[in-house]
Amino acid sequence: DAAEKGGFDHYMLKEIHEQPRALRQTLSGRFDIDAGTVDLDLDLEEAYLNSVEEIQIIACGTSNYAGRYAAELLESVTEVRTSVEVASEYEFDGGRDPWRTLVVAVTQSGETADTLSAVRKAKQAGARTLAVTNTLGSTVTREVDDSLFIRAGPEIGVAATKTFASQVATLSLFAVYLGRVRGSVSSAEATTVLESIRALPGAVQQILDDEDYIREVAEEHGDSNAFFFIGRRFGHPVSLEGALKLKEISYDHAEGFPAGELKHGPLALVTPETTVLAVVTEGSNADETLNNIKEVQARGATVIGAASAGDSTEYLDVQFSVPDIGLLEPLVTNVYWQLFAYYVAKSKGRNIDKPRNLAKSVTVE
Ligand code: G6P
Repeated sequence: DAAEKGGFDHYMLKEIHEQPRALRQTLSGRFDIDAGTVDLDLDLEEAYLNSVEEIQIIACGTSNYAGRYAAELLESVTEVRTSVEVASEYEFDGGRDPWRTLVVAVTQSGETADTLSAVRKAKQAGARTLAVTNTLGSTVTREVDDSLFIRAGPEIGVAATKTFASQVATLSLFAVYLGRVRGSVSSAEATTVLESIRALPGAVQQILDDEDYIREVAEEHGDSNAFFFIGRRFGHPVSLEGALKLKEISYDHAEGFPAGELKHGPLALVTPETTVLAVVTEGSNADETLNNIKEVQARGATVIGAASAGDSTEYLDVQFSVPDIGLLEPLVTNVYWQLFAYYVAKSKGRNIDKPRNLAKSVTVE
């Protein structure tokens, strides 16, 4: 068992550390940065992809949050309207032209019952379907029109970590690919996004190198009554994922929401015993989140913020520094949130690789 964990105390920690390598595998041979092109070896024909009017992403849990990150990117790169739905809530809306709707199922395992059931509904309605998965030969790959593999390698810890990063990276490549096929991005614009994607493994490694500091911060703030994760734009799905990770493995009360929503309710819960974790990097409309940070600080909360390296951040109580890589900085921030959750849970002696009541793959609806 210890050997399988490669010297780490938990599979989760091992898998957090595997992210640079997983990301390299995800990206390997799939793009040409100078040409601004992406090659994903898809069976879905370009003529079809050109005719798509809407994308619907369906997924559960962490995969759903990866889908939300991707939806934001897909809309900005391809101008195709993209919605994200929790798979268990999905109903195909018959009002649209089903053939021109591409339904993308994001599922690490390829076996999640809710996601499979949503795929079947979409197929039945006449939509075309694409799976984004980590698992060759999984049930979902046998049911969809086409599959895109995230190549993260096996993930054992119940709490998803490296698969989230590889899902977002894969879907980001898909967004650039679709944008190029449809002519909605120039090769120069594509190159800019691809540069951010290419920088991911190295940037994630830099966060991992900061592990001792993250552990100190987690141990110091781990006894808070509640943890609120806030961020805008790409910082929003990362906040949802950060809160999910913490609640899954530490059993603490954690919530993620768009920073602007604080004043519409959650602010009532903020006390000096609250810790707020904020994404204030590039791609997260950081300037607008500044006010929200002041609002919680005025109520005595401590704010831990992840900011782009070089930005002035004296307003944060604790600062984590994210390498300047552009649009994908919030994805890199997530590695801080993963390690924070891990060390809070560890300091409380939780069963990190097998949290109570949870399963790696949920095969019942
Ligand atoms: C379970 C796992 C989560 C995962 C979700 C979706 O709830 O505990 O970590 O995000 O299923 O799994 P999938 O395999 O479809 O990505």
